[in-house]
Amino acid sequence: MLEITPLKFEDDKLTILDQTKLPGEEVWIELETREDVWDAIKKLKVRGAPAIGVCAAYGLYISVKGFCPKRDGGYECKERVKVFPEYVREAADYLNSSRPTAVNLSWALNRMVARLEEAYKEEPALKCQNAKKILLQEAIKIHQEDVDACMAMGEYGLELLKPGMGIETHCNAGTIATSKYGTCLAPIHLGQERGYNFKVFCDETRPLLQGARLTAWELVKNGVDTTLICDNMASTVMKNGWIDAVVVGCDRMAANGDGANKIGTSGLAILAHEYGIPFYMFVPTSTIDLNTPTGDDIPIELRDGNEIGEMWYEKPMAPKGVKTYNPSFDVTDHKYITAVVTEKGIVRPPYDINLKRLFEQD
Ligand code: MRU
Repeated sequence: MLEITPLKFEDDKLTILDQTKLPGEEVWIELETREDVWDAIKKLKVRGAPAIGVCAAYGLYISVKGFCPKRDGGYECKERVKVFPEYVREAADYLNSSRPTAVNLSWALNRMVARLEEAYKEEPALKCQNAKKILLQEAIKIHQEDVDACMAMGEYGLELLKPGMGIETHCNAGTIATSKYGTCLAPIHLGQERGYNFKVFCDETRPLLQGARLTAWELVKNGVDTTLICDNMASTVMKNGWIDAVVVGCDRMAANGDGANKIGTSGLAILAHEYGIPFYMFVPTSTIDLNTPTGDDIPIELRDGNEIGEMWYEKPMAPKGVKTYNPSFDVTDHKYITAVVTEKGIVRPPYDINLKRLFEQD
């Protein structure tokens, strides 16, 4: 199995593979401050919903591990109990402001803060050093749970796919978008080990080219039969009969099963529906947001227009002053999603009922 990961936490240090440099260079950078963590998420040096969540969890620990009760306004006596959690909450709010759509960011940060609050409830005079250790333990737990979830989604995904299938994917929901293996690329990596001989078509994914730069990179590295296409070629490859299934990841799934993912996903789902091709969305439960009723309630990130007209070209490819509109995600209506693959199993419609059941199992 592919051993590439997007981040490491070793010797009390958080390092990430800078994904903006791929596929040309594999550069690892250390995130030393909360500003480093915020910037790395904002600029997509670390990206993909689950990887953002894991990075934020470690990032919160990194942001507060230097807290000193005396220097940072706390007291060595009982008030300290109040000041450190406030400091942590403030850092969590700051990190949470880096990107709006992937719910894993707020999910991981809320879980870290909730764990800390629980620890203070159990032990009101908890020492700051111990509180920091508890935060780190929770981040490690979130990280490991994500590895396990991806592996489970890989196994469930293989139940839906047959050897030799042509599979189309969009953006990058692979090993570097998660802790390891990926969500929708996990069955492809697993299938590669087991001789499934999938033929994968990856959409380049304008404007930031996650499909070309990242998915193609990790699939080729793992020896998968990979063909890169421009986004506007999806209809052609489907009409040619080359695609048996579409697999994609998700940044936030609403309670009714509408799923936000990289811009272009919803068009692909509509095309797949037209051609009678199953469309599978891979969604760990950390990406399901039952507090968001429908896709209309999901906040969609708008990014700088220079990503469309200038970023990848030697000279600008659009006239100076032209208006741009650059939403980073779109919402796929649940009616186009054949099945949702989670680490707890495969969910079929009606999603408003069956997604809720996943959480009732606990
Ligand atoms: O803007 P990005 O690159 O963070 O967008 C990533 C995606 O849309 C992925 O498909 C999604 O996060 C699922 S990752 C397993």
